Amino acid sequence: MTAGRLIGVGVGPGDPLLLTLRAVAAIEGTRRVAYLAAEGQPSLARAVVRAHLTPDHEEMPFEAPMRDDAGALAAFYDGAAATIAGCLDAGDDVALLCLGDPLLYGTFVYVLDRLRGRYGVEIVPGITSAAAAAARTARVLARRKDGFAILPAMMEEPRLRAALAAADAGAILKVGGRVRRLQALLKDLGRLDDALLVAWVGWPEETIVPFRDWTDPEAPYFSLVLVGERPA
Ligand SMILES: C[S@@+](CC[C@H](N)C(=O)[O-])C[C@H]1O[C@@H](n2cnc3c(N)ncnc32)[C@H](O)[C@@H]1O
Repeated sequence: MTAGRLIGVGVGPGDPLLLTLRAVAAIEGTRRVAYLAAEGQPSLARAVVRAHLTPDHEEMPFEAPMRDDAGALAAFYDGAAATIAGCLDAGDDVALLCLGDPLLYGTFVYVLDRLRGRYGVEIVPGITSAAAAAARTARVLARRKDGFAILPAMMEEPRLRAALAAADAGAILKVGGRVRRLQALLKDLGRLDDALLVAWVGWPEETIVPFRDWTDPEAPYFSLVLVGERPA
């Protein structure tokens, strides 16, 4: 029997109209659709594609532990990959949904790491949150020789500082409880005044504010900071 393929499907950051035609084709053409959700919460990736799911789909939800415990997370991904591998071994393709682009900080990569080389893989790229946030705010990402950096807020301070100092513009993801630290760093680099906090882009709770005016030390998990173009 021919094994099934693992299909990583990027579903964009929230707005269901930012699904690509290829993502829709992958979902409509695959009986088994898998997705991750935070423990006890509905899956956001499923919510984005729900108009394309039918009773003929075999949905495969996986509830990820939310505590900061590397061992528990590794065990969770081992289990999810083993369940998906069982379906692939039985000859079924599995479409694994991922918010934004699957290969950019996507949960998909942890399943890919475990199954790569054993099964055929197809990846459907998705519109990333940084691109969607830039589009909502008409922020230029890069022009000519500019460098645009996508960085995680939890990067070690010296590396984050150096990367931001080198970038002409950027997006800082995974802001969460790192608001004060980021505001201080951007102020120090002379780039706070132009930075925007973009939360839940494409969702009903979308919020866009100048980052210097964000007073809560916490930002929603689904938020990023757009660092504007370096002044000429
Ligand atoms: C695990 S990463 C996934 C990134 C995703 N694969 C992408 O391509 O955008 C999660 C981070 O992406 C950003 N993010 C994802 N969706 C977002 C949204 N709708 N609005 C704002 N930020 C978002 C946030 O910074 C969040 O902490």
